[in-house]
Amino acid sequence: MSVTRPLPHDAAPLHVAGSARYVDDIPTPRDTLHLAFGLSSIAKGRITAMDLDAVRKAPGVVLVMTADDLPFANDVSPSVHDEPFLSDGSVNYVGQPVFLVVATSHLAARKAARLGRIDYAEEEAILTIEQALAADSRFEEGPRIYEKGDAEAAIAAAAHVIEGSFELGGQEHFYLEGQAALALPGEGGDMLVHSSTQHPTEIQHKVAEALGVPMHAVRVETRRMGGGFGGKESQGNALAVACALAARATGRACKMRYDRDDDMVITGKRHAFRIAYRAGFNADGRITGVSFLHHVICGWAQDLSLPVADRAMLHADNAYRLLNARIESHRLKTNTQSATAYRGFGGPQGMVGIERVMDHIAHELGMDPVELRKRNYYTSRDALPRRKTDNTTPYGQLVEDFELHEMTEALLVSSDYAARKAAVAAWNAANPIVKRGIAFSPVKFGISFTLTHLNQAGALVHVYQDGSVHLNHGGTEMGQGLFQKVAQVAASRFGIPLEMVKITATDTAKVPNTSATAASSGSDLNGMAVKAACDTIRDRMAAFLAERHQADVASVRFADGMVEVGAARYSFAEAAAQSYQGRVSLSATGFYKTPKIEWDRIQGRGRPFYYFAYGAAVTEVAVDTLTGENRILRTDILHDAGASLNPALDIGQVEGGYVQGAGWLTTEELVWDERGRLRTHAPSTYKIPACSDRPEVFKVTLWDGQNREETIYRSKAVGEPPFMLGISAWLALSDAVASCGSAYPALNAPATAEEVWKGIRRLRDGI
Ligand code: MTE
Ligand code: MOS
Repeated sequence: MSVTRPLPHDAAPLHVAGSARYVDDIPTPRDTLHLAFGLSSIAKGRITAMDLDAVRKAPGVVLVMTADDLPFANDVSPSVHDEPFLSDGSVNYVGQPVFLVVATSHLAARKAARLGRIDYAEEEAILTIEQALAADSRFEEGPRIYEKGDAEAAIAAAAHVIEGSFELGGQEHFYLEGQAALALPGEGGDMLVHSSTQHPTEIQHKVAEALGVPMHAVRVETRRMGGGFGGKESQGNALAVACALAARATGRACKMRYDRDDDMVITGKRHAFRIAYRAGFNADGRITGVSFLHHVICGWAQDLSLPVADRAMLHADNAYRLLNARIESHRLKTNTQSATAYRGFGGPQGMVGIERVMDHIAHELGMDPVELRKRNYYTSRDALPRRKTDNTTPYGQLVEDFELHEMTEALLVSSDYAARKAAVAAWNAANPIVKRGIAFSPVKFGISFTLTHLNQAGALVHVYQDGSVHLNHGGTEMGQGLFQKVAQVAASRFGIPLEMVKITATDTAKVPNTSATAASSGSDLNGMAVKAACDTIRDRMAAFLAERHQADVASVRFADGMVEVGAARYSFAEAAAQSYQGRVSLSATGFYKTPKIEWDRIQGRGRPFYYFAYGAAVTEVAVDTLTGENRILRTDILHDAGASLNPALDIGQVEGGYVQGAGWLTTEELVWDERGRLRTHAPSTYKIPACSDRPEVFKVTLWDGQNREETIYRSKAVGEPPFMLGISAWLALSDAVASCGSAYPALNAPATAEEVWKGIRRLRDGI
């Protein structure tokens, strides 16, 4: 069977040969036009005058558009229509698109875009949490609060209490392929859009609104992205709308791609948080009450900020059974890029909060941090407490599939944790300059979109008369290997070799009304939809062949490229040809919706998640205490992908997720100046992990187990959960710094070399 095999990514040969086609590689008509935005240079104000003469006269410029030239909707928001495509007179961050240049070349468009002269009446920008709170600048009235038990009373009555607050920075997606779109005008006002997007239906929707046409007049195709990481759930809307509007106005094909600097300046990033915490606990380390205060920097438009901030609250427990917990979340509106989805969708921020609390308590009690965590874990299913509410999350979902007790024991053994912890202590006692640190952290991540209606998917499968299969579904490919996994499902259902299944581009004309490929749910949802479509065709073929051979339908077998009907055996191709001759429909759609989930985000009550995915990591680091420079020496991971559909791709997701998570919390620092200008808008100033930054020793193993819920072949989603294993790198740095004194290091994130160095100075010299 194809599923469970560790096959390489379907496009791997094309990737390495450079022949995988991205939007910018699609051959275009000779007279194709190229687009660039003129951007706001201030963080907040009103436009008082705009002189675009020089732009219009610049070489190669064909057309310049402002908000006044838009005949229909001026909006690219994925949520509440608060995001004008081009400035409507007010500007809200440095980098906001104000006008659109259409020119004969990419360079001509970019050069001309710089020639606009815009006068502003500048207003005071809101750039910090303090400023936002003072101005009561927010997206929801007052805070959102999720609560279980009575945290304040429990903390007041606790034997020990800790409290603290720390900053948690945002993160640039740094997909290797930047945002890009290409629009080709068709007859009668139709529009074909190629977009590098995780959400083709959203692109279709926004383009239709902007053109003033029904959605049926717009077709969106996405073959693949060179990475999305959440940054292409909504941030591609502006480029697609720009191309479609310009194509409509000129009758020519129009293409737009952001240069890297523009991409970083214009588009939204991960939400930065400030997290304040108070926790009460016993001498044995058991937490009796905990309260979190989240301040979330959302940027200027709402985008997906509410569900992101919700998901942070939903992961404030991580793996721990909290009997009394309170999470309060403030969603602040600031004059910066509109923060958006990013791998984990707020979950990582929430989880860092409780892992910080664990680290702090372990330091306070002088207890082994792993032991402390184990004492606070949820209970395993087999040992569910008599009072079931004890094993519920702060939002009321019963944790029924907890696996971390077993996984933790296995990882502690395979990583040789105890001996290495002793070796780190011995090293630190002997070495004054280079210090080492080691840390463990677990992950429990909820799988499903919290917006319940998004948990649906469709598929379209054709079997041709030669037995080859055309596969299409609503998911998008961004490097995660979704297409290969889903093709493995289709091949398995028909019992045919994978080569007989053609993977095709996501296309809104084939499968409509799709959800974004997000929330790690791509294979769960689309795998099931494809299975349904394949099984429909298989059942029709089986019924036809059974009747012809006077055999029992249930006895028809599809395996090893053959179809067995009673005593007869056909190749799948023969069976397809005969079914065609017998006038059997060999095309079917499939549909799936996730069962069991329901969620009230205002009350913070229900079952938002179908199940949880688990993982655990041990990271060891070395720190130069004179400079704060550091590196990861070794990482051991045990990750739960259920019955993996493809262990090679899943291990790739775990490795990539970990490195990206560690990058977020260590080297990737976003810096805005006092005027709201992003100073880190290129790889020269923004440091993502390079190949050389990956752990020198990197041992990733998949936990051998089946999903308890009925997912596709009992697999589990794997796209986002391993990102949060990177938290162990941050904690390992904290451990190394802790060896420099007796106070708690209290590091902010990212723990850059400077931040680590400051921590060391605080501990060593009290400054
Ligand atoms: N892996 C690669 N190589 N590139 C990506 O852009 N995006 C991540 C994750 N893994 C991403 C990736 C994010 S944010 C999500 S939600 C999932 O993949 C989406 O795909 P899936 O649902 O098929 O796992
Ligand atoms: Mo992923 S942040 O859900 O696109």
